[in-house]
Amino acid sequence: MSTAKLILDGNECEMPIVEGTEGERAFDITSLRSQTKYITLDPGFANTGSCQSAITFIDGEKGILRYRGYDIEDLAASARFPEVSYLLIHNHLPDQSELTEWRRKLTLNSLIHESMLNFFDHFPPTSHPMSILTAMVSALPAFYPDMEDEDTNIIRLLAKAKSIAAVAYKKSIGEPIVYPRSDYSYMANFLRMMFATPAEPYEISEVIENALNLLLIVHADHEQNCSTSTVRMTGSSQASMYASISAGICALSGPLHGGANQAVLEMLERILEDGGDYKKYVELAKDRDSGFRLMGFGHRVYKNFDPRARILKKACDEVLKELGIEDPLLDIAKNLEEVALSDDFFVQRKLYPNVDFYSGIIYRALGIPTNMFTVMFALGRMPGWIAHWREMRQDPTNRIYRPRQIYIGETHRKFVPVWER
Ligand code: SDX
Repeated sequence: MSTAKLILDGNECEMPIVEGTEGERAFDITSLRSQTKYITLDPGFANTGSCQSAITFIDGEKGILRYRGYDIEDLAASARFPEVSYLLIHNHLPDQSELTEWRRKLTLNSLIHESMLNFFDHFPPTSHPMSILTAMVSALPAFYPDMEDEDTNIIRLLAKAKSIAAVAYKKSIGEPIVYPRSDYSYMANFLRMMFATPAEPYEISEVIENALNLLLIVHADHEQNCSTSTVRMTGSSQASMYASISAGICALSGPLHGGANQAVLEMLERILEDGGDYKKYVELAKDRDSGFRLMGFGHRVYKNFDPRARILKKACDEVLKELGIEDPLLDIAKNLEEVALSDDFFVQRKLYPNVDFYSGIIYRALGIPTNMFTVMFALGRMPGWIAHWREMRQDPTNRIYRPRQIYIGETHRKFVPVWER
């Protein structure tokens, strides 16, 4: 086995080199502190691998994204979201009978416990649906206590998360909730629960169903991103899957992460209201003191292009055309992208559109309100979070996540009681 040698204070220590199936290499520092008393320091973990995983592979330089070895472009073009969820969780594509059974279980587990529905009435109508989703996911074990059967919990979470999202939306607009149908698919049930009303039975449009399918697939996993690392961190203490994923939903809500899709739409609307002067906002984003960032731009891993952004940009045009929608925000987004990609500030920093830059325009075209965009991201990422939680829990070498630190506070001081100070 090849090793890396480190010489510290005249002492040499060797660390084994680890190589993955795609040729990625790391040196394993498990024994660093015991050999040298040193630790590593890597704020944001930009250079630190937290685990070895077989779920998703990303090559940030080449713009490659694969779920269990399958290219995102192929899955986005030909698969359905339930199938991709199965693949991520079970590490193989389902055969016809496995897929039929998986879909059946997803549909039959779509109902939310009637006592749980009362919860929704106690959230103010102005509550952000991400707060409701977080609360309801962590409350699930209170209503479905048989925690021992992991496969049942997995199906329950996947199936009920979409129902929780739809009920949260209905409550926020003061409309009666719509119950799932046992003859409807995951996607059709979600759309109907979101948009059907007692007056208007919602006609499931194939264009909308396919667009939603695409959006959920491209969000389904992304290796050790902030929210998935949160799920693994939380699960490493042997917290339940529901608790771990509720923590992941919280991490996703931040505007630097999943909250960016809502922030992108708000940014585009701000530019439109400001006369559409997108060049002004590109300049603003270059001024560090402005506190303004081009939301939906940049990525810790992708340094040439985010393959998901390419897929969604193409889908934007197709979906809006098929729905007969002219959205000025799409023109602003395309102009922003064009100007930024030819501007040295962005080129030097390798800042390109990421998955969040175009997704909101499609969600908007589907009739999904802006404050539900990050909930949609969470619904897409649910199978990825589950797959990572399960992989971590099945790993016999897994240890509770407990990073070290370098202390920079006060050195020892003697305590003096207040009456003597
Ligand atoms: C997601 O990790 C994942 O895989 C996440 C995700 C997933 O699927 O799970 O892909 C989903 O979260 C996508 C990212 C969504 N967030 C945004 O769109 C918010 C805007 N982008 C950023 O704030 C930023 O680019 C991050 C958070 C995405 C990445 O942050 P990094 O890697 O820590 O980069 P950085 O903040 O250190 O920026 C490096 C430089 C800085 O300038 P300098 O100090 O060199 O002068 O680039 C600048 C930054 O100021 N910069 C930006 C910018 N992003 C980075 N400047 C203007 N606009 C931006 N969007």
